[in-house]
Amino acid sequence: LEVDASWRLARKIPETLFGLFFEEINHAGAGGIWEELVSNRGFEAGGPHTPSNIDPWSIIGDESSIYVTTDPVSCFTRNIVALRIEVLCDKCPTGGVGVYNPGFWGMNIEEGKTYNLVMYIRSPESVELTASLTCSRPSGALQNLASAYIQDIDVSNWTRVELKLLAQETCRTSRLDLTTSKRGVIWFDQVSLMPSDTYKGHGFRKELMYMLLDLKPRFLRFPGGCFVEGNLLRNAFRWKETIGPWEERPGHYGDVWNYWTDDGLGYFEFLQLSEDLGAAPIWVFNAGISHNEGVDTNSIAPFVKDVLDSLEFAKGSAESNWGSVRAAMGHRKRFPLKYVAIGNEDCQKEFYQGNYLKFYNAIREAYPDIQMISNCDGSSEALDHPADLYDFHIYNSSTDLFLMKSKFDRTSRTGPKVFVSEYAVTEQKDAGNGSLLASLAEAAFLTGVEKNSDIVQMASYAPLFVNDNDPGWKWNPDAIVFNSWQQYGTPSYWMQTFFRESSGAVIHPITIASSYSDSLAASAITWRDTENSFLRVKIVNFGPHAVSLTISAHGLQVGVDTMRSRVTVLTSSNVMDENSFSNPNNVVPVSRELPNAGEEMQALLAPYSFTSFD
Ligand code: AHR
Repeated sequence: LEVDASWRLARKIPETLFGLFFEEINHAGAGGIWEELVSNRGFEAGGPHTPSNIDPWSIIGDESSIYVTTDPVSCFTRNIVALRIEVLCDKCPTGGVGVYNPGFWGMNIEEGKTYNLVMYIRSPESVELTASLTCSRPSGALQNLASAYIQDIDVSNWTRVELKLLAQETCRTSRLDLTTSKRGVIWFDQVSLMPSDTYKGHGFRKELMYMLLDLKPRFLRFPGGCFVEGNLLRNAFRWKETIGPWEERPGHYGDVWNYWTDDGLGYFEFLQLSEDLGAAPIWVFNAGISHNEGVDTNSIAPFVKDVLDSLEFAKGSAESNWGSVRAAMGHRKRFPLKYVAIGNEDCQKEFYQGNYLKFYNAIREAYPDIQMISNCDGSSEALDHPADLYDFHIYNSSTDLFLMKSKFDRTSRTGPKVFVSEYAVTEQKDAGNGSLLASLAEAAFLTGVEKNSDIVQMASYAPLFVNDNDPGWKWNPDAIVFNSWQQYGTPSYWMQTFFRESSGAVIHPITIASSYSDSLAASAITWRDTENSFLRVKIVNFGPHAVSLTISAHGLQVGVDTMRSRVTVLTSSNVMDENSFSNPNNVVPVSRELPNAGEEMQALLAPYSFTSFD
């Protein structure tokens, strides 16, 4: 394998090459990175008509002691449903009666941590109320982890109550209990419980943030995917319903992935998440098209206006109409929103082309700096409409994705750039629940992305997250698997760590001559940290044989520092090996020193492996 490491033929890789695609799928946000522990906090998930299903809230007590229903009496006009409990007992059971919320398949409550409870209550009488965090132990006993009380306060009008709950013990499957022993009626609404130590206090689950930060993502595409479209437009993501005080957000049912979200993770929070990750935000907005409907281009004007408002919200001055709403949410500074995608996978849909142009022209005029992404694939045929980038999604078998490392070799170099915003091996027999095999094919594909990064400007794996408790997982495989308290990366996650220094680096030409060339994929980059520059050669061996190679690098700018040279390998004894909660490090990169590093060196690539030489 020969690398021309001179600057003569080196080419700069875009600063934005590798990033993340976040979709509200598999409870990635609600019950995932968004650390609201209460599920259905506003009692809205059962629909606007009352009485309604309060799932997953449940009743503590029986018919003789408590009557629970929903009532359209909230003080929040956009989410009018509240919970009404009527305590019927004079001598209530020990511990009282009330309701509990198990969160998203159990709350992770940790000893020594404080949890902030906010709720709105109303009652004609003064209330005596206990809020507790409890845990069902295997013995069947309900253990109290933390409690706080309110009594003798006037709540004759809707009143915001804030309590702090300090956990005395740890339990991964806890619940929030709201109980009373006093006869009477209490209404509850907007009950929120969050740990006090979310990432930067911004509501994001720290451990998941650290995993994302470790990939050094340069962009964040959000909030979907099909989530953006909805099966029906009325269930699509509507950014205006997701901003402002959390209590006032109506929430919505994501009808593609079939679950409710309170939209605590809303448009503002996505922009905040991008900022916290140091990633450029990429806002995918609905183009007036759902999976089953399309708004006629003649009627699309209000949708265009709505999108312009979203841009003013992100980019406008704090004095502008929508920019002032952002400022009121605590972010006076403008968000550097420079990319928008006009729809998701809508190219072939009726009205897309017409609607696209309406959005494109209006945005181009109002925000000439914004780069617009079309849903139409321009990789084999030129687009018939203007665009800065076009979206390319690829879900495939491992063999096909491996071969697609050359996909962009002959793509036109004129016209819009490519955004590979969703790629993964998904064929079940290859992918399992996230296999080494899948990650190797993806790595090979990404070496092709790097080599073609004159035309491919961005790439992101999909989907990013899955909550393991989500029945059946909505999509499999995913990059990061988590439950209420644990998380691990699939091999596809770890594969991406080999590319985290590539964005903004330079790529060098390489040639490979080997009898195993057909099963090899490789690239070479130079990246710099504050003091040094490193040549990194990455090689995928997609075959069952060990491969011996001589690696030589010509034209290095500085000598090889053997003390700092390293080899890192992602492999396993079985190509279908996966990671799991019990064995999270089964397939992870292993690094060691490379004492034989030099301008020319021998290397032995393990069968089915991904190796980088720094
Ligand atoms: O990544 C999962 C889904 O795949 C996305 O929602 C959609 O864009 C694609 O079809």
